[in-house]
Amino acid sequence: MASRHVSRDSAPPAAVLGSSGPLWTGFGTTGAPVRYGDRNTAPDRRSPILGGRNRSRRHLVASGRTAAAARARLLERIRERVAVPKARRVGAWTRAPRRVRCMSERFYSDARLYDRLFPGGEPAVDFYRAEADRQGGRVLELGCGTGHKLIPIASDGHPCTGLELSSDMLTEAQRKADERAIAVEWVQGDMRDFDLGRTFDLVFVAANSLLHLHEAADLLRCFRSVRAHLAPGARFIFDVFNPNVRVLADADGVRRTRDALSFVDPDRGDVRVDVAETYDAAAQVTRGTWHFSADSEPDFLVAPLELRSIFPQELPLLLSLAGLRLVERFGDWSGRPFTGDAAIQLCVCESD
Ligand SMILES: C[S@@+](CC[C@H](N)C(=O)[O-])C[C@H]1O[C@@H](n2cnc3c(N)ncnc32)[C@H](O)[C@@H]1O
Repeated sequence: MASRHVSRDSAPPAAVLGSSGPLWTGFGTTGAPVRYGDRNTAPDRRSPILGGRNRSRRHLVASGRTAAAARARLLERIRERVAVPKARRVGAWTRAPRRVRCMSERFYSDARLYDRLFPGGEPAVDFYRAEADRQGGRVLELGCGTGHKLIPIASDGHPCTGLELSSDMLTEAQRKADERAIAVEWVQGDMRDFDLGRTFDLVFVAANSLLHLHEAADLLRCFRSVRAHLAPGARFIFDVFNPNVRVLADADGVRRTRDALSFVDPDRGDVRVDVAETYDAAAQVTRGTWHFSADSEPDFLVAPLELRSIFPQELPLLLSLAGLRLVERFGDWSGRPFTGDAAIQLCVCESD
């Protein structure tokens, strides 16, 4: 969804960490990620894990608490901050035991509206279907949304699992699959850290879902989790937009109507979509506010959507840090090689 980067057919979106926060908060001098607050790592007072400068360990000790009490409190804060829930099975789909928040979750709060906003995308569906056929065996999609790609793949006879953060999207995915009598395993979880206890022959992340991970450390955690779920000979494939600096620089915060995104809602009639975006160059994140309006109901949904840009040169490096190798990068769905002016980065990876 990030703006003009994302075609209507390829779908979009993004998120920012909620209260569970990033496990990794920075990079050490070697370039390797450092978990501030680890026993072997000097605590960084700027770290959100430690609660900021005024709540540093030294401050706690100086304020009269015993060193042991301060240490215990610190450890408790670290544990609260870094705990990432694993999935468990409840009812129709497997649900995360504790709520994991996502900055853009409002954007996904009406899954049917989302499907109307981004219909189509057939070349992407065909591509992932062909890859599933080519690989054979089990398929896992991360950030599967309402099953736009996964349900067709499952209908081809592949055992499919979809991992998704939003319960609204999962409920709609389940409804659509049930309607077609297609079996898919739906799991609520966070692609930054998951453990499904088995491997897959194809793992994919479609339609910019990966751009919901804003920190380099989050991408790394995701890639490491993916690596742990790849069977021998398996492939990891994802598509993200190719950042265009002119488009990024044009994001001036002014609300504008996107005529190409308007659609008809059975309950509300014609729906107009306005978007205001700015680009945070330091974070490499486009921060947008999306306004959905009907004649009778202006701004019936106003939702933030934040998408990271992954620049071409950082991608292979991040993958290699997680034990993955970029074996091919295409610039479109027909398999044209990636070039600077390509709309997308369609990446095919294998275990190192
Ligand atoms: C643009 S939608 C794509 C949906 C689907 N892959 C498709 O092609 O239609 C991005 C999806 O990623 C999900 N998502 C965002 N952050 C996530 C995370 N950390 N873990 C799992 N899913 C996430 C969102 O809830 C949303 O459903």
